[in-house]
Amino acid sequence: MNIGFSKTSLSAKGALVLFILPHLKLAGAASEIDRQSGGALKRAIAASRFKGNAGEKLEILAPANTPASRVLLVGLGKPQEINDLSAEKAGANAVTQLLTSGEKTISVLIDVIEGAKISPAAFAAHVAVGAQLRSYRFDRYFTKQPDNKKPSVERIEVMLDDHASAKKLFKPLEKVAEAVFFARDLVSEPGNVIYPKSYAAEIKKLEALGVEVEILGEKEMRKLGMGSLLGVGQGSENESQLVVMQWRGLPKTSKVKPIAFVGKGVTFDSGGISLKPGAGMEDMKFDMGGSAAVVGLMKALAGRKAKANVVGVVGLVENMPSGKAQRPGDVVKSMSGQTIEVINTDAEGRLVLADALWYTQDRFKPQFMIDLATLTGAIIVSLGHENAGIFSNDDALVKKLTDASEKSGENVWRLPLSDTYDKDIDSSIADMKNVGAAGSAGSISAAQFLQRFVNKTPWIHIDIAGTAWAKKDLPLCQKGATGYGVRLLDRLVRDHYEEK
Ligand code: BES
Ligand code: MN
Ligand code: ZN
Repeated sequence: MNIGFSKTSLSAKGALVLFILPHLKLAGAASEIDRQSGGALKRAIAASRFKGNAGEKLEILAPANTPASRVLLVGLGKPQEINDLSAEKAGANAVTQLLTSGEKTISVLIDVIEGAKISPAAFAAHVAVGAQLRSYRFDRYFTKQPDNKKPSVERIEVMLDDHASAKKLFKPLEKVAEAVFFARDLVSEPGNVIYPKSYAAEIKKLEALGVEVEILGEKEMRKLGMGSLLGVGQGSENESQLVVMQWRGLPKTSKVKPIAFVGKGVTFDSGGISLKPGAGMEDMKFDMGGSAAVVGLMKALAGRKAKANVVGVVGLVENMPSGKAQRPGDVVKSMSGQTIEVINTDAEGRLVLADALWYTQDRFKPQFMIDLATLTGAIIVSLGHENAGIFSNDDALVKKLTDASEKSGENVWRLPLSDTYDKDIDSSIADMKNVGAAGSAGSISAAQFLQRFVNKTPWIHIDIAGTAWAKKDLPLCQKGATGYGVRLLDRLVRDHYEEK
């Protein structure tokens, strides 16, 4: 599907999309089309329960005397509440209705919105990216998909007076959307396709965009003393990898310290010797969702040439049981020098991140580190699928992330850390154990564990176990991999860490 911007034309064929406010008055293009069609729009509104609220839509098929095959009215809600995100949802709403409708082209007609703070150009750009995000499908493994299930829309033409400005604003947004798609693809791919080496090879392709990519294998990691990460991959036939990405968007002379993002990339989590139950185990191909967000972020930043120096580090391992696998009770030594008693081989994500976090702060001395991980089932018990859990040692950084969360619509909710929780992971044989007290604050003890490897660097841990995968459709995403984190972190970087 491609997206273009141009001047308004009332002779467009295919589907027309018009945005409507709750006062239901038809202005501009809408009133013109209503007039052409002998009042079809007004009559349709009167005959329906469409109120122009956000999330509503009304489809009018084959209106008389217009070249359009259908008109879709999309509600916007109160004009003073329209923002980037609500514009994205409005664009997505149109695509939800039309993507597989048989229409090949959609023309979206945008007038000045009376009472709105957002400019028509910004509104148009965000409508476009919302439409794009919602159009994503992961269908490469269907060999006999029936025609009526396949997307029919090939082009969206967004029409407005200031189309030149809209096009310019859309350019970086489109790069971010493409990066979200990359993350969704990586998460959707099964474990036999994306395993540490094949995943690292995918990441290596970011070099074409100017990202520096280094791949460390098990030999290199052993030299660095990463016994915690290596223990997790020990039972797998697939060699573990640590991938380091650097995007240097600032001038070479810049003295600014980089910012760093770290991701859990367990390409399949069987649980290891502490084997998971069979039912639902297939879901654990998405256990690399945190790393996919980091990789997607790097692609977004490079794609839109962000003026920031950013490091991405992902630990890629497969957690499998075998004769070589790590046992419950084993003690491993992490790169930090701290020892860990592995009580449960299924609490592996924290073992991977322990070394990835330590390595990142040790090598790059970043301004901050943010890690993302599908870390605990317990976070789904606490927050469901609405919010990712965040944990931090830095209130100011949390404030910035929370702002970015409100703007991107990728929700976060903070949970506490404290010395008393920290005691739960003390071990009687090593410096710590990899699980806390059974059935008690499992997401927090996991975060406490990670905190022992950040060495006082300002840090946020984002537990995305509930948000990396959607079991039902979301406003900006068909059910499946969400790409959660890419837009959140891109917004954080854009609003707070880029030179203008
Ligand atoms: N990858 C899982 C967490 C997870 C569970 C993500 C369900 C999404 C859905 C993680 O590695 C794990 O297995 N965590 C254990 C920790 C426990 C053994 C302390 C869990 O949450 O059960
Ligand atoms: Mn696990
Ligand atoms: Zn896991």
